[in-house]
Amino acid sequence: MQDILSVFPDREVEEIIREASKIMLEADNHRMRVEKKDGAANFVTEYDVKVQRFLEEKFTALLPGCGFLAEEEGENENPLGDGYTFIIDPIDGTTNFMFGRRASCISVGVFYNRQALYGAVYDPYADRFYSAKAGQGAYLNGERIFTADRDPSVGIAYIGSAPYYREKTGRIIAETTYEILMHFGDIRRLGSAALEICSIASGEADVYCEPILSPWDHAAAGLILKEAGGIVTDYHGDPLGYNGPSSVLAATKASYDTAQNLLKGMV
Ligand code: IPD
Ligand code: CA
Repeated sequence: MQDILSVFPDREVEEIIREASKIMLEADNHRMRVEKKDGAANFVTEYDVKVQRFLEEKFTALLPGCGFLAEEEGENENPLGDGYTFIIDPIDGTTNFMFGRRASCISVGVFYNRQALYGAVYDPYADRFYSAKAGQGAYLNGERIFTADRDPSVGIAYIGSAPYYREKTGRIIAETTYEILMHFGDIRRLGSAALEICSIASGEADVYCEPILSPWDHAAAGLILKEAGGIVTDYHGDPLGYNGPSSVLAATKASYDTAQNLLKGMV
């Protein structure tokens, strides 16, 4: 893996992501074309598609033959392959984006022969570029970041609540909210799983959990959090896969056990 990393063009990948983010920044929130996907309040805008196409074209030119597993355009069931696979969420936090709430990001996880190699999550509104290479630590705008070491009783926990699956998950989320509130300091919700997980990596929060989450929402942020000293598994404590949605628990080492004990029976 370290051999591949020594030739992996991370600077070029960062430049491409920063360039793609201009499509988000220049978007007209009041006039965008929006389509509905499966499930309640599940949307795709013309900009999600434009950002994804831009990234795929540039990454293909940079690393010919690479594969894609991506949220839009029917690429959401592709398997990880040999060589490079990019797992892309062109806009994580699409509802925020549609409403002009400045809390969305581009998320790009890079796998080599099915192993996580590199992750990047870019919030263009705050100009925060989170990145990590396997085994080499996590960074925010080039500065090394680490998780916090707070006691769970004062920690902040995010509870993901995607409405797409609410018939299945509504009661689980309600019960989770009660349990988390009883054991942690407080609850937050940004509306972008990738940014929520990255904020744990930079020490600003302690736990993120969501009963059903897709691979493009956690692929990059999961590597970033692990490289910052955190733990990412499903609610049962098993490693996450990339073949479909699963429950996701992301936490600091100090908060993981408390959260996992509360969540293990929920799904
Ligand atoms: C969603 C966001 C949200 C999470 C959902 C995701 P999208 O991604 O990350 O915070 O709760 O599960 O699907 O649809 O905005 O890319
Ligand atoms: Ca998205």
